[in-house]
Amino acid sequence: MKLLLKTVCLASAMALNGHAEHPKQSDDSHYNASPDRCAGIEFDAIAPDEKGTSYFFKGDHLWVGFSGPAELSNGTFKDLDEYHHLGHVDAAFRMHNKKDSGDHDHIYLFLNDKVFSYYKHSLEKGFPLEIQQQFPGVPSHLDAAVECPAGECVTDAVLFFKGKDVYHFDIATKMVKKKAWDHLPNCTSAFRWLEHYYCFHGHHFTRFHPVTGEVGENYPKDARHYFMRVSNVDHGASGKKEPCSAVHLDAITADDTGKRYAFRGKSYIRLDSHRDGTHPFPITKSWRDVTDGVDAVFSYDSKIYLIKDVTQIKFNQNFERIFSPSQGNQVYIYKADAHYTLIDGYPKPLKDELGVQGPVDAAFMCEGEPTVFLIQGQKMFSVDLNATPRSVKREVSLPFTKVDAAECGADGVRVFVGSKYYKYESPTILSHSKVTPVPFKISPKEFVFKK
Ligand SMILES: *[C@@H]1O[C@H](CO)[C@@H](O)[C@H](O)[C@H]1NC(C)=O
Ligand SMILES: *[C@@H]1O[C@H](CO)[C@@H](O)[C@H](O)[C@H]1NC(C)=O
Repeated sequence: MKLLLKTVCLASAMALNGHAEHPKQSDDSHYNASPDRCAGIEFDAIAPDEKGTSYFFKGDHLWVGFSGPAELSNGTFKDLDEYHHLGHVDAAFRMHNKKDSGDHDHIYLFLNDKVFSYYKHSLEKGFPLEIQQQFPGVPSHLDAAVECPAGECVTDAVLFFKGKDVYHFDIATKMVKKKAWDHLPNCTSAFRWLEHYYCFHGHHFTRFHPVTGEVGENYPKDARHYFMRVSNVDHGASGKKEPCSAVHLDAITADDTGKRYAFRGKSYIRLDSHRDGTHPFPITKSWRDVTDGVDAVFSYDSKIYLIKDVTQIKFNQNFERIFSPSQGNQVYIYKADAHYTLIDGYPKPLKDELGVQGPVDAAFMCEGEPTVFLIQGQKMFSVDLNATPRSVKREVSLPFTKVDAAECGADGVRVFVGSKYYKYESPTILSHSKVTPVPFKISPKEFVFKK
């Protein structure tokens, strides 16, 4: 992980340059025409091939390596869709057993009750087989699979995931041991990378020990900061790759005095003082207690509300979760003056303050209205800040699976999703929209996050 962290620099830039792209559906369901992995994708499967190239599968698409555009999976894995028309794989891993065994370095793809074995991107003779024929005792409709060589596991093994259950499959003896790792999030894909093991869930990942299931400290983390990069096309032909975090925002807000802030990772920038140059600062410089970034921010009545899911998966010695998810969603309210001062009694659980169970992805208010809009996955809640107690007044469904940030200004609402943003005239129009409008591309001019 260390190595990976080092290669991922925070230097990056992005902007709103206001030119529209071709209209595109933004949601990243199984059948998306061209998913954007900076938008926060939940992968179906991840596995390396015999050359060490990693494949990230989503629906009928895949990505080759940590950067580059999505491609159709059947281009790389021939014959995959002759046997099915479902357009996705459930799980994948690379066989790591002894070199002289027939299937060393083969890549196995799982779909429903079938397993496909590929070598050098050709389907092996005799495949697909029933999973039970090749891996007796392993169930069908898997969620994830990952190889585990002897030394890391007790013997050469494969770990299969289905719901809370993990099946340790011993390659030599074909013995299966089933365990329930209740403390681990349900993995939709699993990946062995630099001898570490990662469970992917949502667009997050959690490191775990392949034998005990013990989870590393300070997880989950956002996969976009580590495993996904974009070519920085706007910086010329250098071919420089930046993490997806280079082109997504965590939050954006403007207060009554016209100060406008964008947040990403542990940094923020002032957008209104753009003409003096943009300088990123640690969030803690202005909001001392907010040490680990933000999920959503909004401003109201000379106060700024910073919301963060501070749940980190922590366990006692019996591997029981120490924090419940609801305790983890905190809201920090700062009074805006010459400096920001944390109001007494904060942070508080989001549920207590706004009557909404977190985590939330984005929040915004429009001037002159006491209503805050909170976006959580595909849902948007409105909460009247003048009401006591505060509670969800209205809930609507949005045409996005995952939103990064949102703001409301004189020209309406902007919804930020990965490297794009969408404009709506008002919250009402946003709440009635069933399809996404033409997106605008975020590119390096206005938002410059550099370290
Ligand atoms: C892959 O799938 C697409 C869409 O399902 C199809 O149009 C295309 O012909 C397939 N390509 C190959 C190489 O099979
Ligand atoms: C995780 O898997 C279990 C089945 O083992 C299922 O009951 C549960 O709903 C799943 N949790 C989530 C969050 O999907």
